[in-house]
Amino acid sequence: MSKVTVVGAGNVGATCANVLAHADAVKEVVLLDIKGDFAKGKALDSMQQAPIDYYSTRLTGTDNYADTANSDIVVITAGIPRKPGMSRDDLIATNAKIVTSVTRSIMEHSKNPIIIVVSNPLDVMTYAAHKASGLPSSRVFGMAGILDTARYRAFLSMELNISPKDFQAVLMGGHGDTMVPLPRYTTVSGIPITELIEKDKLDAIVQRTKKGGGELVGLMGTSAWYAPGAAAAQMAMTIMRDENRIFPCCAQVNGEYGLKDMFIGVPVKLGREGIVEVLELKLNEDEMALLNDSAEHVRQVMEVFEGMNS
Ligand code: LAC
Repeated sequence: MSKVTVVGAGNVGATCANVLAHADAVKEVVLLDIKGDFAKGKALDSMQQAPIDYYSTRLTGTDNYADTANSDIVVITAGIPRKPGMSRDDLIATNAKIVTSVTRSIMEHSKNPIIIVVSNPLDVMTYAAHKASGLPSSRVFGMAGILDTARYRAFLSMELNISPKDFQAVLMGGHGDTMVPLPRYTTVSGIPITELIEKDKLDAIVQRTKKGGGELVGLMGTSAWYAPGAAAAQMAMTIMRDENRIFPCCAQVNGEYGLKDMFIGVPVKLGREGIVEVLELKLNEDEMALLNDSAEHVRQVMEVFEGMNS
């Protein structure tokens, strides 16, 4: 694999491209934005960082889809971010059109790419990209769970004063306030989290995680980019390196967890061909109820999307 395209040179897209370049794992990163020369400027800035930070990845910016030809992986970050007071779902009217048209333009120039969606509302935008691409669902999925578990792990690390490197966690459901962090599947270097933290503190961290994106929108007036960009880059690198790593990602479910015909956060194995497998954990009744609530919420947003197209 040698070519990754990142669509959208805003904060998330530019961060993703920059993190990918730093990993020096891919020959070429193309950053595309419809805003004239904007992507060219961002890519050139990143290229000028290469002699300092030592990477050989070639970054180019463009506003022309022809330059994305034969991409192995495409990360879609295009669309508007939310402003204070908005939920991710409020973005659907604008972003659904953008994601659909971006996906079609990508497919005109790349035959069989893997598409990673980052635009919000994430679960439904992933569904939209899958529909517009005609690709198998193993090749179209969304970035949310890596970001949401990273927030959860960062909060735990700050609370316990243990390195963020040592937290492992699974989180399921939609990328919204109904997401389902799973303390029963959270460990610190193999030690169950429940042995290291009091229940009320853990509960508070779970609640903070669910609203983690909103907390940042409140602080900055726009949505986050360092962790979202790095999370999307991590997925691309895992695929390029064919690592078969396990991450929570937004994937199509085909009966797993009793859910189907939708995209939602589940643990998956990621490798060169995209999603190798959706893992089915044995959730207890409470966890299942939370997941079903979240799925119901994603379905409501899907209906809004289908309504827009009918
Ligand atoms: C967030 C956006 C990327 O959670 O959805 O920060």
